[in-house]
Amino acid sequence: MIDFSHNFNKDCKILVTGGAGFIGGALVRRLLIETKATIINLDKYSYASDATSIDEVLSGLGSVANNRYKLLKVDLRSESDTALAVQMADPDLVMHLAAESHVDRSIDGPSAFLESNILGTFNLLQALRDHWERLPEDRKQLFRLHHISTDEVFGSLGSKGRFSEITPYNPRSPYSATKAASDHLVSAWHHTYGLPVVLTNCSNNYGPWQFPEKLIPVVILKALENQKIPLYGDGANVRDWLFVEDHVDALLLVATKGVCGRSYCIGGSEEHSNKQVVESICKILDEKLPKGKSYTELITYVTDRPGHDKRYAINPDRITSELGWHPSKTFEEGLITTVEWYIAHRDWCEKVSKRSGYFGDRIGISTAN
Ligand code: NAD
Ligand code: DAU
Repeated sequence: MIDFSHNFNKDCKILVTGGAGFIGGALVRRLLIETKATIINLDKYSYASDATSIDEVLSGLGSVANNRYKLLKVDLRSESDTALAVQMADPDLVMHLAAESHVDRSIDGPSAFLESNILGTFNLLQALRDHWERLPEDRKQLFRLHHISTDEVFGSLGSKGRFSEITPYNPRSPYSATKAASDHLVSAWHHTYGLPVVLTNCSNNYGPWQFPEKLIPVVILKALENQKIPLYGDGANVRDWLFVEDHVDALLLVATKGVCGRSYCIGGSEEHSNKQVVESICKILDEKLPKGKSYTELITYVTDRPGHDKRYAINPDRITSELGWHPSKTFEEGLITTVEWYIAHRDWCEKVSKRSGYFGDRIGISTAN
């Protein structure tokens, strides 16, 4: 982990949107532990939200840290609430992660993605433009919006090549199309209105506290419950995996040292097919919780995701050479940590499943909305 304690002083106010989600939560925890800044977490509290991990950090840090943390339950789809929240937060730095994030859900119900990811980003940009223009000159010079996006905006790769900052946009799912739109809005507000921005496009994250609808927690929990492990299509689709804390390192580097107006691609250089990922999880479970026969016997090939992108891979040369970022964990190490965490936190998984009403059923194969 990189030490960021010197980067944010006690007068600095950081607005994190989506801080009750998986990556936003990891970011808020790091900011609380490693800086003296005030952290304002703006989140609408959706099915995917949970603040247990932040509460744990706050109770460990005591009352001074509690005074540095504010939660604003706000939905970015509301123009007036967003404007008011930005006014109240009065931020020096904004890290924008709030979004609907699950591809399968975007296939069943794309409108929620348009509303949160496009309209929500537009409302935030308008509110921030107003805020930035009114700041005194010294704070105005230092202000920055960091827009957090995905490699999925670049589309799908064949067996060769990697995405980089100059790859043309070619989103192919409702989710990635809305994230691409939000990236374009952020760039447009920079070029047209001068709003100081940086953008990042990251590959697949995994690690503790991820809502159990994404591949890695789904597989671990299905295996622990002795249920069929669903592998979409032929299991040959490839993703480039990054441990969430390494993503947070990259985000903090870009937010503090990235060149204004630039985008940075972030990836773990850990390409694995879904079949390899699932088999690796089963192997770890075979060692940690042996049960007579291998967990691999639960692997079941199921109907493919419509429009399933074949392969993602990131060329991280820019963030590596300009900012000195490297992931600290290999996929093998991160996966063991993650499997151990889910084994130890099945009560948390049950809690968030019950609260959200999502119990691991297959989604994303409906064709009508
Ligand atoms: P997540 O679904 O776990 O969390 C998203 C959070 O955003 C939730 O707490 C949700 O309540 C909040 N949110 C959604 N719409 C909102 C709205 N209208 N107003 C206020 N809050 C809202 O997602 P995540 O996996 O933590 O991803 C965070 C960001 O990082 C997203 O922008 C996503 O596109 C991007 N990203 C994710 C990955 C990944 O692998 N998970 C990889 C690259 C980029
Ligand atoms: O690439 C970054 C993106 O990674 C982020 O922008 C998204 O927010 C995040 O959800 C993730 O998108 P993916 O679609 O790649 O992640 P997901 O975990 O849904 O699926 C990973 C791969 O595993 C994908 O090829 C589909 C497959 N899959 C998924 C699930 C849930 C299965 O085979 N079985 C499953 O049960």
